[in-house]
Amino acid sequence: MKLSDRVARMKPSATMAMDAKAKDMVAQGKDVLSFALGEPDFPTPEPICEAGIQAIRKGHTKYTPASGTARLKSAICTATERDLGLAVKPAQVCVGNGAKHIIASIFGSLLDPGDHVILIAPYWVSYADLVELFDGTWTAVQAPAERDFVPDMAAVEAAVTDRTVAVLINSPSNPSGGVFERSDIEALAEVAVRKDLTIISDEIYKHILFDGRTHYSPAMVSDEVRQRTIIVDGVSKTYSMTGWRIGWLIAPEAFTKGVGTLQSQMTSNPNSIAQEAAADALLGPQDAVEVMRAEFEQRRDLIVGLLNGIDGITCRTPGGAFYAFPDVSSYFGKTRRGRTLETATDVSAYLLDEALVSTVPGEAFGVADNIRLSFACSNEQITEGCARIAEALAG
Ligand SMILES: Cc1ncc(COP(=O)(O)O)c(C=O)c1O
Repeated sequence: MKLSDRVARMKPSATMAMDAKAKDMVAQGKDVLSFALGEPDFPTPEPICEAGIQAIRKGHTKYTPASGTARLKSAICTATERDLGLAVKPAQVCVGNGAKHIIASIFGSLLDPGDHVILIAPYWVSYADLVELFDGTWTAVQAPAERDFVPDMAAVEAAVTDRTVAVLINSPSNPSGGVFERSDIEALAEVAVRKDLTIISDEIYKHILFDGRTHYSPAMVSDEVRQRTIIVDGVSKTYSMTGWRIGWLIAPEAFTKGVGTLQSQMTSNPNSIAQEAAADALLGPQDAVEVMRAEFEQRRDLIVGLLNGIDGITCRTPGGAFYAFPDVSSYFGKTRRGRTLETATDVSAYLLDEALVSTVPGEAFGVADNIRLSFACSNEQITEGCARIAEALAG
């Protein structure tokens, strides 16, 4: 049967593919330790689960408005005021089936064929494919490790073409853990105003920040910048609700309305039960968020220390999210157990076969020298996984 060019040229998500391969190996009885998937390992907090159960009992089991229920939109406004100090109206909020779906809806609503988007590399795996799905083009500006994975804003400005409509940032970043400080956001906002760009700000990890950092959104810079900012957020990472599939955007009303129209034709509405639980997550006690954040910080210290202790690996200390992104390029050109490692993909494949440790190669994120390890797993797994990596790389 015919398959559209649009889909034929699309790559499956590299992180999901790597995780699926690791799970296959586990099913074959192999003792694989997975560091591949970006999913908190904590259960969804009990009160949120209970809210989901109550939602079913109370009959929240029917279609909702395409852009989300009034209750969830109001909860998002309340949480946005609490967390960012921003007053937002429900009409500026559109809810979708997770932040990934919302990002797809944004590109579907923003891009005409040939429109250009600037990404920051290393970038999250899905951005580029989603731009292409909607006939957009993209280039990636490198955010080098030496700058703690924050780009030079002059390089961002230099990447603007006469077709550039948006720049997409993700702070804290998946996969690098890089965090834009307030001054970085202000410098980016200046470029966006001067060049008339929309800023898409993926803030899905904003509650997972370390060393006392606080989150700063482009929407906080000024009213002028807010008018050109689309915030992307969701409950997946903050509340360990990846399977519930609730994400949202906050943008100027007219744009938000367009996204709602698109979604009304594509999905009708996000899951009604999950919307109720997400509202409770946002409005209820937030203690679990801090417990998980603190746990991630402790694991970050553990994994970064262990990785840097391996000969030939250098790992920056991520400022947020739950990924270590070590540089493994010192192994390129070296032979281990009869295999010559030329790329990060080779290193990642070698570690899966020889150390039974799954990671994601940097190429999936637009960079050549690194691999990504999620530290959303136990201290025991981190310790054992790093020991296996050290042994396999030693020869
Ligand atoms: C940077 C980033 N944005 C968006 C998402 C999508 O999150 P979800 O669709 O679960 O809300 C992820 C998930 O891994 C992510 O890492």
